[in-house]
Amino acid sequence: MTIESNATTSVVGDETTPDAKPAQSGPAAPRPFVGRLVRLMLRRLCDRADDYVLRRSLRLAGFRGVESIPTYTMPSELATLYNLAMWCPPGARVLEIGSYLGASTCYLGAALAHRGGTLTCVDTWQNQTMPEGERDTYGEFLRNVAPIHDRLTLVRKRAEDLTPADIPGPYDLVFLDGDHSYAATRRDFDLVRERVAGDGVVAFHDCAEWEGVSHVIGEALACGQWALVGKVDNLMWMRRANWSHASPQSRRELPSVDP
Ligand SMILES: C[S@@+](CC[C@H](N)C(=O)[O-])C[C@H]1O[C@@H](n2cnc3c(N)ncnc32)[C@H](O)[C@@H]1O
Repeated sequence: MTIESNATTSVVGDETTPDAKPAQSGPAAPRPFVGRLVRLMLRRLCDRADDYVLRRSLRLAGFRGVESIPTYTMPSELATLYNLAMWCPPGARVLEIGSYLGASTCYLGAALAHRGGTLTCVDTWQNQTMPEGERDTYGEFLRNVAPIHDRLTLVRKRAEDLTPADIPGPYDLVFLDGDHSYAATRRDFDLVRERVAGDGVVAFHDCAEWEGVSHVIGEALACGQWALVGKVDNLMWMRRANWSHASPQSRRELPSVDP
């Protein structure tokens, strides 16, 4: 909205106000700029508060220096995974396909330590599909996740070899971050979707950078059974389009953000 003033008339948008006070001399205060500045400062304050809560939570879960675990998952995405797990109900069950050296596992696990939940991790820990080539990453993974080891069920096999007994479900949150080819992502999603709780969430990493992942997300949304909930950087999450028909007790409000 623009405000133009002269001695006798103020025009606010399309409205004319004959009795308006005369404008003061000098440049008009740039109100939209001030508003934006205040919003930005509040946003920064909230970000710092969130950051403090997250670090404290990681410390309480027993983690020291998780920020230095090598990963391709960005800090904003790791924080979002933590939040998605925090929004799970008490005693939540979470599934992760693709754990690598444990960065995402630690953030999910720290939240589950507070929610009293458990996490099943599926990986070969042979580093398939990773840019640096195949190698055994299991020992490093185990060292990194040690503080939450008692909450983890580790399934060391290829996702294509999983049996129903390996991942019984139902899961409140599934995080897919294994092989990002179309065929593999489709297979992983088809495998887990029936194991997702009524109001459960499926999160995909590399949704924007990997054609295979975005292709599967597109198909899931196009079939009308899944609805996009939110996206942060290269992480997006969805849940069943009819989730709100689940029992009122199990309804959970999730954030829908893409700053
Ligand atoms: C992108 S990394 C996971 C990153 C991890 N989520 C993080 O935040 O650091 C992909 C992982 O998927 C695993 N992987 C690749 N293909 C797989 C398959 N077919 N079955 C199981 N694990 C697989 C790799 O061993 C690797 O550890």
